[in-house]
Amino acid sequence: MSGDLSLRDLLRSSALPQNEARLLLAHALEQHYQLPRSALLSRDEMELSPSALAYWRELESGRLNGQPIAYLIGKKGFHNIELLVAPGVLIPRPETELLVEIGLREIDQLSGKASLLDLGTGSGAIALAIASASPNIAATATDHSSEALAIALKNTKNLGLEARVQLVQGNWYEAISKEEQFDLILSNPPYIESNDPHLLQGDLRFEPINALTDQADGLSCLRTIISGAQEHLKPSGLIAIEHGFDQSAAVIDLMKSAGLRDIETHLDLAGHHRVASGRK
Ligand SMILES: C[S@@+](CC[C@H](N)C(=O)[O-])C[C@H]1O[C@@H](n2cnc3c(N)ncnc32)[C@H](O)[C@@H]1O
Repeated sequence: MSGDLSLRDLLRSSALPQNEARLLLAHALEQHYQLPRSALLSRDEMELSPSALAYWRELESGRLNGQPIAYLIGKKGFHNIELLVAPGVLIPRPETELLVEIGLREIDQLSGKASLLDLGTGSGAIALAIASASPNIAATATDHSSEALAIALKNTKNLGLEARVQLVQGNWYEAISKEEQFDLILSNPPYIESNDPHLLQGDLRFEPINALTDQADGLSCLRTIISGAQEHLKPSGLIAIEHGFDQSAAVIDLMKSAGLRDIETHLDLAGHHRVASGRK
């Protein structure tokens, strides 16, 4: 067989940016030969079998057509865990790790066991990152989407967290009973306005629309979640919610109107106000 199918040649001839080509080719090697990423260098003369080659071509053309890398390789790192992801679920974003950090700080201050409600859990990202980092947490994670919950369940099992993370389906607080109260409510709801042009660009084109936009002014899910917080927080309980970079003032107003106290805004690594928190 000619040498133009060696790993080195495949990387050299790919139209993808090299970092992306390496990531996808490493994934093909792992899937077909259980080889580590370092094989890209240590075995760069290796030639792929026809089926491995076909898989690489599929990954490469998927990415050239704009498909998100996380969907192509089926996983995404988030905080301290790795999550399975697929087109039915939002790809967890680094910004959302801010909510996890706020949650973990709060749990540290509570003595003993604490309860968490993660509204709109998607892949399970927030609840699972927190439960995996803190043995003191019992979490309820909800979503409207059965596709998302199926993926969240796989992630829960992979991380061995079934005993401490309960998944329930439903429309925001309707997923739980009226009486249920939590030490901590965290949520990253859909907050993009329905006519935002970003929905038609980049990775967002491939993600579930109901995970991204409320199909309204961008604030409707934030309103519902904040207005139900008093009912579902224990005394002194904390709610922290992610929002768009230009929604901070509106979200703080919603928290004030809901009678929450100790309202704070939190900056992401890029210096944008992306999370607001308040206490019952
Ligand atoms: C922005 S995604 C966040 C997913 C995950 N928490 C994360 O940060 O990666 C919003 C999630 O809210 C869910 N969702 C949308 N509308 C909902 C509703 N009415 N009730 C419950 N969940 C909803 C979506 O299915 C989606 O999984």
